[in-house]
Amino acid sequence: MTDINFNIQPSELSEVDKLNFKDVWEKYNLDILGHFFPKYQNRQDTDLEKKGFYMGEINEDEVSSVKEIIDKNTSKSKFINDSDINYVHTNFKELGLEEAYNRDSKFFEQNLLLQNSINEILERIKNNIADQIGSPWRNLMTRFWETENTAKNENMYSWHTDGMPHEFFKIMLYFNVLNRDNGSLQLKNSDKEIILESNSPGSFVLFKNSMVFHKGLPPQKNNVKRYACEITISRAFNFFIDSADAGNNAHYPIAPWVKALTLNNLNDSNYKKKLKIKNIFNKNEINKNYFNKLDDKQKELVFLVSKIRNLKS
Ligand SMILES: [Fe+2]
Repeated sequence: MTDINFNIQPSELSEVDKLNFKDVWEKYNLDILGHFFPKYQNRQDTDLEKKGFYMGEINEDEVSSVKEIIDKNTSKSKFINDSDINYVHTNFKELGLEEAYNRDSKFFEQNLLLQNSINEILERIKNNIADQIGSPWRNLMTRFWETENTAKNENMYSWHTDGMPHEFFKIMLYFNVLNRDNGSLQLKNSDKEIILESNSPGSFVLFKNSMVFHKGLPPQKNNVKRYACEITISRAFNFFIDSADAGNNAHYPIAPWVKALTLNNLNDSNYKKKLKIKNIFNKNEINKNYFNKLDDKQKELVFLVSKIRNLKS
């Protein structure tokens, strides 16, 4: 696993701070902002600061590559209580919301090819995002789902903020032309309600997800699917943009030094009892049935990654 280069280490914190993870995220965030201030002096003049969101384009090739992987190589994944134990998470089943989430949003498994195609987009836009937030950033977790016009105006499709500490942001990647027919995102800026619209094949939106009221807009047209990929990020001393699957009911790492470690879930016997294991050992593998549908370049990638994994173990 890549070492994370940042100043605060657990050993440097007082006993009290070690348990107060919210404060630790705040210190971590301020440390980074201070460090990068000379390089990003215009941070206060950005769209993110002035409007609460920043929008850019996802091009035709990127959209078709992601859609092809979804069509040919990706299964659906039930929205269940499968969070990495190192993450702050919600037990939606206990709240009686699990059924509604599965009814309105169909989540995708995050296989190697899908993660790779998302990582390529993030690599292209990483500096635009850094200019907005005033530092490099880390991808804390990724989720991907589709929505049809049957989705009810509840939960993520009604007005809300995400209720996370303000050190976190979200990047949404949309793989549709954004309008009422195809679905979009609606945001409140001061008193104005804005529906994001764009003629480009896809769009990305960075926004302050816990400060700005927002709601997902399902498509209004029949037989249209709105494809949304959500990236939860924080500031960081270096770029760590690769997708991390921390489970669909996860929100953000409890402490800044934690990364998604799937197998850590298995160390806690209480958690294990409650957990519904969802192919936990092969989350990043390509389903055997799909392998023959891969093109040569994709097969090469799968072999390469398997080789790297074998080297590690
Ligand atoms: Fe939200």
